[in-house]
Amino acid sequence: MNLINEYQPHQGRYESMPYRTVGRSGLKLPAISVGLWQNFGFDVPLSVVRSILHTAFDHGITHFDLANNYGPPYGSAEIQFGQVYQRDFRPFRDEMIISTKAGYDMWPGPYGNGGSRKYLLSSLDQSLSRMQLDYVDIFYSHRVDPETPLEETMGALATAVHQGKALYVGISSYGPELTIEAVSILKQLGVPCLIHQPSYSLFNRWIETSGLLETLQSLGVGAIAFSPLAQGLLTDKYLHQVPDQSRAGAPGSFDSSLITAEVRSSLAGLKMIADERGQSMAQLAISWVLRQSSVASALIGVRSEAQLLDAIQATSSLQFSSEELTSIEAYSREFELNLWAESSNRTRQEMP
Ligand SMILES: NC(=O)c1ccc[n+]([C@@H]2O[C@H](COP(=O)([O-])OP(=O)(O)OC[C@H]3O[C@@H](n4cnc5c(N)ncnc54)[C@H](OP(=O)(O)O)[C@@H]3O)[C@@H](O)[C@H]2O)c1
Repeated sequence: MNLINEYQPHQGRYESMPYRTVGRSGLKLPAISVGLWQNFGFDVPLSVVRSILHTAFDHGITHFDLANNYGPPYGSAEIQFGQVYQRDFRPFRDEMIISTKAGYDMWPGPYGNGGSRKYLLSSLDQSLSRMQLDYVDIFYSHRVDPETPLEETMGALATAVHQGKALYVGISSYGPELTIEAVSILKQLGVPCLIHQPSYSLFNRWIETSGLLETLQSLGVGAIAFSPLAQGLLTDKYLHQVPDQSRAGAPGSFDSSLITAEVRSSLAGLKMIADERGQSMAQLAISWVLRQSSVASALIGVRSEAQLLDAIQATSSLQFSSEELTSIEAYSREFELNLWAESSNRTRQEMP
């Protein structure tokens, strides 16, 4: 068996990727980060996972986002990532930002879901073991758990930092009011909230309409936008058909009946603007979320190196004229697509 580390990252990997500061912290993230929610579980050969992760790191993507239950099956994305880490990335640990989360269902029984201290801290231990890591850079509460006091969930995040198992903490899909509360509790515990991970795209603008973006700016908490391509909808693949090799074309993701004539008409308008800018649709969608200076990174998913390389090119055209932004507004709208984890706008009064 060859035990020599064969992977050597590209020497010029830091030359073109922009790095953006996360809120009022000292941490920078690449403008594009890669998430392992889909396409990295045991349903995909390790060789494919490995080459996509290499390509990402070779192009300056230093941030990889995971969660306990990414797969399928649950846990398998962390295991596959851990194998690539152990084999190739271990010498480069200090060049990487690796995050994981707990909050949604992971294992049976009352302690494998939600926001309890019991669940979060045991899940983090399991994630570290699957990824073969000593610590993660960011540990998230994946969702609001209305059955757990916020103090308990934030207390568990703070403990993860105090135990040295996480460098920073974050929250995902919390509405503005609970974000303010969570940030305040963490501050009292001596652990700043680094980052919020909300869904955000041309077809899903709840962080603008709910006031979350402004809230994050005033709190000095950074944002990383997940599903900026609306799970692939904001690309040209669904303009005329539903390819078999796509999320809408395969069972288990979103239903192709969601791609209505209205959606296609918006996509056609956006495609014209993308063409005029010399961008692909995916590049336009990614550049657009990054027009917000408080969005530190666009957190994408990819099924191939080709998709990743296309997405990375978005960073070479991040500026928009006011005319372009006005034209885009005509095609950007909220669709009831139910493609993203529901954002929680629960109020403090509704929490235990
Ligand atoms: N915190 C949360 O609750 C939460 C929830 C969801 C996601 N996330 C995070 O966000 C990450 C990204 O989510 P996502 O996968 O939904 O993001 P996304 O970037 O909106 O969608 C990814 C899909 O877009 C398509 N795609 C990507 N690049 C493309 C390109 N250049 N050309 C054409 N199609 C392209 C592919 O679809 P096809 O596979 O159909 O080709 C790919 O699977 C996840 O991995 C996870 O880390 C977090």
